Amino acid sequence: MKMRSSKTLVFYPGTNKVTACNFLTRSVFECSPEVVGLLASWDEWASTAQIARAHGWSKADLNAVVPQLLDFSALVTAGSPLAEQETQFSGQWNWGIPTALMHFCVQDSAFMTTEQAEARQIERAGHVAQPDLMLKNANGAIRLPNALDENELLALMARRRTNRTAAAPTITARQLSDCLFAGMGITGETSNCVGALPLGMTPSGGARNPYEAYVVALGVEGLEPGVYHYSAADHDLGRISANHLPRISELVGGQEWADAMPCLVLLCARLDRTMWKYDDANAYRVVLIEAGHIGQNMMLAATRHGLSACPTAALSHSPIKRLLGLDRLTDAPIYALTLSTPDLVSVPKRVE
Ligand SMILES: Cc1cc2nc3c(=O)[nH]c(=O)nc-3n(C[C@H](O)[C@H](O)[C@H](O)COP(=O)(O)O)c2cc1C
Repeated sequence: MKMRSSKTLVFYPGTNKVTACNFLTRSVFECSPEVVGLLASWDEWASTAQIARAHGWSKADLNAVVPQLLDFSALVTAGSPLAEQETQFSGQWNWGIPTALMHFCVQDSAFMTTEQAEARQIERAGHVAQPDLMLKNANGAIRLPNALDENELLALMARRRTNRTAAAPTITARQLSDCLFAGMGITGETSNCVGALPLGMTPSGGARNPYEAYVVALGVEGLEPGVYHYSAADHDLGRISANHLPRISELVGGQEWADAMPCLVLLCARLDRTMWKYDDANAYRVVLIEAGHIGQNMMLAATRHGLSACPTAALSHSPIKRLLGLDRLTDAPIYALTLSTPDLVSVPKRVE
């Protein structure tokens, strides 16, 4: 059996030990400097016998350490699914190792419950003062006109609120349609040296348009419950799955309030669209920023319809990718919004 060290390992030093992280598998483990040396020299496909001969390790020592290194995905077996993933990574990821470390390590994070998050804040507030959440100017600052006077747009913006309740089991297709169009709708076209570029309701770095929107519709009037893809090009919904309809909480890190929601909009980036033009890692930030623009437009359209769009970045990336059939390394669920008619009578006082 041939093996080699993983190409997606990052090492950082500590006292008398080195911590290693395989960012593709999110495996973190400690190892000795000798094991780091072994991994550094085992960079081509080779058997344990070949490595023992070439690098002076005894077979017994190697046999003792290899199973664990395979377990930690520090070593990869030739022909394995992980070897295939690494090939995809080196062929498809242009934004370097530090950005990859950040991107892949935050996939499928474990999220705290509201109770755990509150307990942690209370405990921390006991010994570390919170940083200021707003900065004020010193006396003598220039007073600006009241922004909300006779300004319908700002009044609408001011009404936007995250509300995690559903007063009705459904929303209308029109409401969903307007939210999708507000965030994703295509309204024009431009071109550059290599061809046409779509222009939409929100700005996009280089007009690369990296986002696709998907809808998990459980209670949308006139729409069979199912999972749909929104085509911004044609402003229509194509059904992609009807067999397995998950609970929404399964897609948003277990947040139970989401199960009462009639609808979830998922914003998934196709990173390769932006990567194709921009080699520099700053373009990764560009993609993330764009999700905020799209989400805000959707939230304002929802507010206009008397809905609340609750944004969440606590995503269950693998279940989402499986549900939507997204299997490329550069497909990345980034942001999601639930849509509901909020229960304005019993608004729970809770901030996630
Ligand atoms: C990027 C982002 C991620 C968020 N993630 C969550 C989340 O995972 N769960 C949740 O309940 N609220 C989430 N929120 C909503 C915030 O808690 C909410 O915006 C905040 O409490 C302020 O309330 P407001 O939206 O009514 O102004 C998120 C908001 C943003 C901008």
